[in-house]
Amino acid sequence: MNQTTSNQQPVTALKAGIMGATGYTGYELARILERHPAVEIAFATSEQYAGQTLDLLYPAGPALSLVCAEEAPLDGVDVVFLCLPHAASAPAAVAALEAGARVIDLSADFRLRDPAVYAEWYGLEHPAPALLEEAVYGLTEFARDRLPEARLVANPGCYPTSILLALQPVLAAGAVAGGRGPLVADSKSGVSGAGRAPKAHTHFVEVAGNFSPYKIGRAHRHLPEMEQALHDWSPAAPALLFSPHLLPVPRGILSTVYVPLAAGWSEGAVRELYEQTYCDEPFVSVLPAGQVATLAHVTHSNRCAIGLAPVGDTLIVTAAIDNLIKGASGQAVQNMNVMWGIEETAGLA
Ligand SMILES: NC(=O)c1ccc[n+]([C@@H]2O[C@H](COP(=O)([O-])OP(=O)(O)OC[C@H]3O[C@@H](n4cnc5c(N)ncnc54)[C@H](OP(=O)(O)O)[C@@H]3O)[C@@H](O)[C@H]2O)c1
Repeated sequence: MNQTTSNQQPVTALKAGIMGATGYTGYELARILERHPAVEIAFATSEQYAGQTLDLLYPAGPALSLVCAEEAPLDGVDVVFLCLPHAASAPAAVAALEAGARVIDLSADFRLRDPAVYAEWYGLEHPAPALLEEAVYGLTEFARDRLPEARLVANPGCYPTSILLALQPVLAAGAVAGGRGPLVADSKSGVSGAGRAPKAHTHFVEVAGNFSPYKIGRAHRHLPEMEQALHDWSPAAPALLFSPHLLPVPRGILSTVYVPLAAGWSEGAVRELYEQTYCDEPFVSVLPAGQVATLAHVTHSNRCAIGLAPVGDTLIVTAAIDNLIKGASGQAVQNMNVMWGIEETAGLA
């Protein structure tokens, strides 16, 4: 383990392991960590491609040797990133923690505090419920106080990252009207959000030239994760309607979020609230009045762009992120940086 204190660089490079390096988030993580000034990639796993190198799958990627999970040297690393499907992640987290590593899990396995809610939405008993209490929900901007001590970080989902960054200021400030209907998040995601394994509804012919909503209203698995955070910020938060759409682009998420404003919140006061919340944030930009967030503001970066458009007593927030970076691997590295007291933007600028 490296010796570090807050705001210091580690004396030697952190040793990082990537489990699930051949998936879209694993590959993006490998690219970020490869150029990170304070990290050395110690291993990268794949079950299907063990024995090969990552650049054979992704020609622009690093030539990392791939090993199967069983052969990953867990006890030789400081941090293990889990880029695995839910249910596969939890047992891998247990093994990595037992070996003495800290864990950043990109799956949904440790995002929900209540194992009964996990069972309801994911259709199985939680594989490691004893770890749920200590897992820190790593929406970095609002988790900095807990990250330095965390052994296990649950990286937020991609849609939730955009929607929660859009909603936190108004929820925490009590600016949302009670009794005037739900919060509404209308979101669009690029196809990499569904992962690399081919599925009928994400292959080229189904997606190109098409645009489709799916799991609309209150059916998507990211809903309980978002409502958990919203209730942490405001126990009286209204229900959330969440309508995701599949956008025929490779990457990026744009969420348009409709908020019923409490009485007395003028356009100027709302803008000041968001600007104050995010003025010191390296990765969250509140756009000038009249501008809306677009994918072009954020793709291939760890940024979240937020546009504000108050219309009478409704606030329309547009929030854009790159699902694979701020929505997954970039935020995971941002969390790692805070956990070890490394400059928060290291590897991500
Ligand atoms: N895609 C996104 O935008 C996004 C954003 C935020 C969070 N996430 C979450 O991050 C995780 C990874 O997502 P992804 O999009 O990168 O997925 P993906 O492209 O489908 O890749 C999955 C990876 O996990 C490995 N894998 C699959 N099943 C496994 C199993 N049973 N045991 C061990 N390894 C297994 C695969 O390895 P092989 O080489 O053996 O196939 C592959 O490396 C998921 O939990 C996802 O929900 C994704």
